[in-house]
Amino acid sequence: MSSDLFKLASTIFPGGVNSPARAMKHLPNPFYVRSAEGAYLFTEDGEKLIDYCMGFGPLILGHRHPAVLRAVQNWLERDWLYGAPTKLEIDEARKIMDHVRSIEMIRFVSTGTEATMNAIRLARGFTGRKYIIKFEGNFHGSHDYVLVKAGSGAATWGTPTSAGVPDEAAKLTIVVPYNDLDALEKAMQERGDEVAAIIMEPIAANYGLIPPREGYVKEVKQLTEEHGTLLILDEVVTGFRVGLEGAQGLFGVKPDLTTLGKIIGGGFPIGAFGGSREIMKLVSPLGPVYNAGTFNAHPVSMVAGLATIKELEGEQAYAIANEAAKRLGEAIIDIGGRAGLDVWVNRVASMFQFYFTKKPVESTRDVAESNEKMYLKVHAEALKRGVYLAPSQYEVNFTSAAHDRDVVDYTIRALEESFKAIK
Ligand SMILES: Cc1ncc(COP(=O)(O)O)c(C=O)c1O
Repeated sequence: MSSDLFKLASTIFPGGVNSPARAMKHLPNPFYVRSAEGAYLFTEDGEKLIDYCMGFGPLILGHRHPAVLRAVQNWLERDWLYGAPTKLEIDEARKIMDHVRSIEMIRFVSTGTEATMNAIRLARGFTGRKYIIKFEGNFHGSHDYVLVKAGSGAATWGTPTSAGVPDEAAKLTIVVPYNDLDALEKAMQERGDEVAAIIMEPIAANYGLIPPREGYVKEVKQLTEEHGTLLILDEVVTGFRVGLEGAQGLFGVKPDLTTLGKIIGGGFPIGAFGGSREIMKLVSPLGPVYNAGTFNAHPVSMVAGLATIKELEGEQAYAIANEAAKRLGEAIIDIGGRAGLDVWVNRVASMFQFYFTKKPVESTRDVAESNEKMYLKVHAEALKRGVYLAPSQYEVNFTSAAHDRDVVDYTIRALEESFKAIK
């Protein structure tokens, strides 16, 4: 039983888990997964759940997609780690660069955290400047440069600024509100010429979902150009999620550096940072900015990522995943209205989140002012009915190519009952 496993796990792991987003603070214990298939998770309690977390983003094709499974199984027959280059890493890199045109050179690492950490180090090495700017509620992984007013689990658990990050390090990270150009302009006027990089989620997906205001990402890019600052677009979530070209394609913005992760590993550990040749040539061993990793460009992640991107090129996958999120978003507005509850939905492509609030959600403050208790009640009720939503209003729901009409129809019925149950 999940409850027994959690009791045991709590004596072994801090909080019983190995990543805070997996602990559900509103439930006695998280459920434990035994297996997964398509849009479903199967738990140790014998339950079948429709999954809207999808590994927190990577599984855009669904769990255990046959093309990914076949590719990985075939490769595993050979071996799985060499500590030497493979042709696979060239194939995957070229595939990524075919679509994300701002990347002329790339380095694969093992996680999104490493990707942003190295991109920031590279920006500092390239510009010779110390400061970085990040946005409140944006999440870029769990390293010291970015654990200042961060989102995701850090927001859910009320520790957006981590203990253990020295003041000296935190001071080098200037935090400004997201979607507020005036505040960014002011910060850039004060310090712009000392800022190595602005790092941003082009679509904020770690404080719930907050789409950028019209033209915002372009305006941020322009500000960086005026000050000789680099723009790092953190596309760990949005890369290959909102389209093959990522959010930079959607908004027509060319960043200096891009970070990727999640989908490009097809469900296996991955991260990558890349950009112009001029900047990337500073990375070791070609240049003086150090990066290395035992598992960098892990063959299994390369194989799974390549198989995933090839499926996405077929476009059918995006069409199904996007349609599922669109229908769910519309249904939630409708269900909320009929239940007499004020609900706001944000959606981009196959990501969505809903909030109990009377006003549009355009900033982190709007998210924080939404009724989190109501969200968690709906979450618990939906779970009883076999639907696993994002476990916090600070996370995002992801759909996949496995979320077909029947799955969505079932979900809508379950949500209708869940909304009624919390009244
Ligand atoms: C935008 C963004 N950047 C970076 C990361 C860190 O990636 P990882 O969890 O692979 O270290 C995340 C993780 O959710 C993320 O959402």
